[in-house]
Amino acid sequence: MDTEDFREHGHRLVDWIADYLAHAERYPVLAQIKPGDIVRALPARAPEEPEPFDAIMADFERILLPGITHWNSPNFFAYFAITGSAPGVLADLLSAALNQQAMLWRTSPAATELEAVSLGWLRRLIGLPDSFEGVIYDTASIATMHAMVAAREVAVADVRAKGLAGRSEIPRVAVYCSDQTHSSIDKALIAIGLGHESLRKIATDDAFRMRVDALSDAIARDRADGVLPIAVVPTVGTTSTTSIDPVAEVAEVCARQRLWMHVDAAYGGVAAMLPSHAHVLAGAERADSIVVNPHKWLFTPFDLTAFYSPRMEVMRRAFALTPDYLRTSESSEVKNLMDTGVQLGRRFRSLKLWMILRSFGARQIRAHLERHVRLAQQLATLIDEHPDFERMAPVPFSVVCFRWNPADSSLTETELDARNEALVERVNRTGEIFFSHTRLRGRLALRIAIGHIRTEESHVRHAWDLLIREALHS
Ligand SMILES: Cc1ncc(COP(=O)(O)O)c(C=O)c1O
Repeated sequence: MDTEDFREHGHRLVDWIADYLAHAERYPVLAQIKPGDIVRALPARAPEEPEPFDAIMADFERILLPGITHWNSPNFFAYFAITGSAPGVLADLLSAALNQQAMLWRTSPAATELEAVSLGWLRRLIGLPDSFEGVIYDTASIATMHAMVAAREVAVADVRAKGLAGRSEIPRVAVYCSDQTHSSIDKALIAIGLGHESLRKIATDDAFRMRVDALSDAIARDRADGVLPIAVVPTVGTTSTTSIDPVAEVAEVCARQRLWMHVDAAYGGVAAMLPSHAHVLAGAERADSIVVNPHKWLFTPFDLTAFYSPRMEVMRRAFALTPDYLRTSESSEVKNLMDTGVQLGRRFRSLKLWMILRSFGARQIRAHLERHVRLAQQLATLIDEHPDFERMAPVPFSVVCFRWNPADSSLTETELDARNEALVERVNRTGEIFFSHTRLRGRLALRIAIGHIRTEESHVRHAWDLLIREALHS
């Protein structure tokens, strides 16, 4: 592709993207194809000769587009309704063009320094102390894995050099989270060799928050059994109900017990920008590490995760390793991003965070978040007032958990679960909206997550009407 071809196709592609972002609701939200359709439609081998870009785009529209589930639709209400934004898309385009690989300061001074600046902006917006140094990872799962490596580094002598296997002098270890915590903590412990059995899932209260009395009991039990507690992971915005663990009380326990506290604020952390939600990070100023996901609720195209720690030297102790060919003369004056994790190369992700924060401005971001919270509250009221629906959890952010449970029915809990499951399938098959489910205390719950930048009252109202209509056929 020569320069003039690039210019022409680029302009056309940007036009396509602009139309797409403005009208994503034209498409069925949930891809309506069957498994294998795309593989069958594409050749098994790469072409030997160059193909025209127009032909490639035509196949994109004909074959791939039907296989896209439209996270960028305002009618997307599943999981966490994450959304990219136009400034983020442009930033990713520019980042791809620059092809920065920011392992060392010198391989991309701009990416290295902008990462510090943009994470500093975000840190101040959500009210974390300036002592928290930031680094960008791809996902919250990877950030949490790094936090667990740091906890292991502090608690287990010589773990970097000697590892864990075959060391009879090392006791079994334990990490604590709630029974609502995201599976990324399970995977982190599996990945770093602490073992899945070292995870203790602490019981939660009526509002799905970690019970600190149960946490203290579990730690005491482990100590009595000769197990070494090393870390606690409270969550701000759990995956199913968005409940908020009592971080300040957990911090107290961690300080007393000398445990690493890693706060998973992947979803809820950005809400601390709102005066109404500043309290959600209360206690996080005492964290050893915290993760916040701009790619969840800050209009940042996937992926970009912010990880902060006031103890980044532990991370560097665990990970810094510089082969001769990566030594540089300025290494004593600069921070090399490769020192804060497993990964060597890093993309220029901070460009999109910087462009998004500047293009929106904090006031507009807050207005979007406030609208999402308000829409969720309105939906919660509609559910509370409807005799055939039942809310299943409080709504601290912008996610509502509920179920269809008709007032005059004699259905058993098992039948109710089956009917609600069928309702999810039926509604999603319409393609008009896409929402998901979870299980709460063993019961199937419907889950509407509001977070798209263009989701307005009309979209939520439509989702609600659709649910009522389809529930009538249950
Ligand atoms: C509370 C929480 N933490 C962590 C994650 C993992 O996020 P990621 O996809 O960035 O790894 C999720 C995903 O939904 C989550 O809900």
